[in-house]
Formats: sequence, structure tokens, C-alpha cells
Amino acid sequence: MYCTRKINKDLIWIGANDRRLALFENIYPIPNGVSYNSYLLLDSKTVIFDCVDKAVSGIFFENIAYALKGKSPDYLVVHHMEPDHAAAMEGLISKYPNIKIICNAKSLAMIKQFFGFDIDSRAQLVKEGDTLCTGRHTLTFFMAPMVHWPEVMVTYDAQDKILFSADAFGSFGTLDGALFADEVEFEKDHMDEARRYYTNIVGKYGPQVQALLKKAESIDIRAICPLHGFVWRKDIATFMGQYKKWSAYTPEEQGVLIVCASIYGNTENAAEVLACKLSEIGVKVTIRDVSATHFSYLLSDAFRYSHIVFASLTYNMGLFTNMETFVHDIVAHNLQNRTVSYIQNGSWAPVSAKLIAEQLGKLKDIQTLGEVITIKSSLKEKQLLDLETLARAIAEDIKTKRG
Ligand SMILES: Cc1cc2nc3c(=O)[nH]c(=O)nc-3n(C[C@H](O)[C@H](O)[C@H](O)COP(=O)(O)O)c2cc1C
Ligand SMILES: [Fe+2]
Ligand SMILES: [Fe+2]
Repeated sequence: MYCTRKINKDLIWIGANDRRLALFENIYPIPNGVSYNSYLLLDSKTVIFDCVDKAVSGIFFENIAYALKGKSPDYLVVHHMEPDHAAAMEGLISKYPNIKIICNAKSLAMIKQFFGFDIDSRAQLVKEGDTLCTGRHTLTFFMAPMVHWPEVMVTYDAQDKILFSADAFGSFGTLDGALFADEVEFEKDHMDEARRYYTNIVGKYGPQVQALLKKAESIDIRAICPLHGFVWRKDIATFMGQYKKWSAYTPEEQGVLIVCASIYGNTENAAEVLACKLSEIGVKVTIRDVSATHFSYLLSDAFRYSHIVFASLTYNMGLFTNMETFVHDIVAHNLQNRTVSYIQNGSWAPVSAKLIAEQLGKLKDIQTLGEVITIKSSLKEKQLLDLETLARAIAEDIKTKRG
């Protein structure tokens, strides 16, 4: 049975939720599922903005048929060719063969790569600043290259001042009946997943996101319709503010993330001791075990906090695999502007701090704080002072940065 929601008198959400997918992009756990948003504009000409993943294409087609009351859609706007939004395109074309496809040149090439249907006779190519009048509404297209993929573009509806933002401003998590961010307690219940979505999916492309934010600042936006997660019609500036911070690699909070790799528990013990000392002097701290926490959550925390302490054992003259993955991931996502410290452990030749520091050397504005604390198998009483010194140095640094 169809399941749609009205955004305003001309615009309807015709997307769907997926609660069965374990791993988004076959890598990111999504315990709360994900929504694939598609929107239908009812004007003299009707426009569908993006399709959905093949997992939910059945309900998508029911939604279209219901919302259009049996009519055929005139246009499909393609903002992004990733199959979580484009997979149902082939089915859409076979159901509505007269539909025109509004896309850019890069999307056109990708449509040909992904599908075998005749696109040339249906495509209407657009480039930066081009417009399409659908009757009451005029749509303007802006390119947003690498706000996930190179072909990404966004659309601005000047009539209702709505930005269709593609993967930007999205979030993991199903909608569960709500559609607008102001219908849920977003900050409390959804910000963590929005951050994990941003940092993992788009986090590598900070400058490109900043370019999109700049364009967005030049237009009057009253609502944002992303491809995943909630529609924004209130507090847009607050969420934009988060995007500004994330895309500039500015820490969201002055606080400490201790990322710990430990087999027998001795490195973890040092992490615990440091965390207690930090808490005692009023510093916010969180410990994550690389073996217990998926790296997508670790990356998200790394974007959140100003200080990262790497507490890691040495493993076959190298890094423990999960720690290596985390370090690789923050380098791959181009994290910047963080203060880092090290606790390393080894029973014969500890080298983990050196190996992590080498990797972090590829990143901009990474400041090292304190001496490396080296543990030989287990923490010794006299090293408590070293941890105390590190905790105080971090607290002092946070105080200075807070101003
Ligand atoms: C498979 C394996 C490989 C290891 N390789 C090294 C190494 O190359 N150099 C070293 O100093 N210690 C090495 N160790 C020892 C651990 O780093 C050391 O015992 C450390 O104290 C473990 O810390 P934990 O108690 O937090 O697990 C290795 C241990 C294991 C299990
Ligand atoms: Fe995407
Ligand atoms: Fe997506």
C-alpha cells in the first residue's frame, strides 16, 4: 500500500524506509535503517526528484501511481547516480517511457554505464545555473561535484524556496512516520547518526561541501529536502552550522577521544587511568575500543572531539589491524586540525606511536601534545605520574583553546 507524506501543497515525499539492510554501501552498519527519499512536485508539469534503491522500488512505484492519480510524470531530475537513488530508474522508464530525464553531462555518462535503456532520446541536459519552468515553479540547477560523487547536482525551487540537496544534509536512520526534523528530537536522537553519515559518506570532501554551502548561502532557503533522513523546515541554520564545522574539520567539542587497541587489557588499563584523571579535572572524555566499535563510529567521534589519544599495543612490528584501519580511515577522510597524544605498548619493541605518527604526518594541522608514554607489557606505578602529566597538559590545552 502506498505511503506518502505531504511537504506543502505542491510537494509530496514518495520515498521509503529500509530496515533490512545491515550495511550501507556494504560497509557501514545501520542499526536504525535508512530512508531513501524521493519527492514529487505537482505543477503544470510534474517532476520526480530522484528514484530509490531497488530494495524499496515496489513501494516507490505505488507512491508515484497514487500521488499522480494515474497520470504519467513529465520529468525525472537526477541529482546523484549512486544506485541507492538511481537503481529504480530503469523500472521508472519502463513504466513511464515518455518521461524526460533532467541530468548533467556527467550523470548522462553514468546512466549509460549503469543501464542499457535509451537515454539519449529522453535526456535534457542541464548545467550550472540552468532553469526549468514547470508552471508555477522554476527550478534552478547547481552543480555540487564530489558532494559524494562527481556528477552530483542540487536543485533550488525559487517558488517555495526549497533546496533539494542530494546526499548533503542527510542522515542514517529510518523516518518512522515523521518526515520533518522538527517532528523528532533531532539533536538528542538523530545528531549522532547524522554526524556518522556525514563524516563517513561525505567527510573526505570538506572543500567541496564548503563550495556547496557557499552557494546555499547566496539563496533564500526555507526548506531542505535531502536524499536520506529528515526534511528541514525549521532550525536550518543550526544544521547548516554543523555542516560548516564538519566540512572545515573544526572540532565540534573540546574533549578527548581515547582510541584504544588492546589484547590482554594492559593498554586499555592505561586508557582507563588517563580517562579517570581527565574526568577528575573536568575534561570530557570517551574511550573507544577499536575491536568493539566499528570504525565508522570512531571516525565520527574523531570529527567530534578536539583531542585524540591513541593508546595502542604493538602487533607483529606493526599496528593492530583494527587500529590500522582507524588510522587509515582518518587519513583517507583527510581529518585536520586535531591535537593528538600517544600511549604505546609492546613486550619487546613498542613502535605503535611512531607508526601512527607517520600516518598522521599526511594530515594538515595535527599538533602533538605531551611525550609518548611507553608501556612495556603492563603499566607501572611510576608511570601514573606520566599519565597525570598528560591529562594536565590536555586540560591546559583545552582551556587555552576555549579561550
Ligand atoms: C600476535 C602478536 C604480535 C605482537 N607483536 C609485537 C611486536 O611486534 N612488538 C612488541 O613489542 N610487542 C608485540 N606483541 C606484544 C604486545 O604488544 C604486548 O604484549 C602488549 O603488552 C599487549 O598489550 P595489551 O595488554 O593491551 O594487549 C605482540 C603480541 C601479539 C599477540
Ligand atoms: Fe551517495
Ligand atoms: Fe545516498
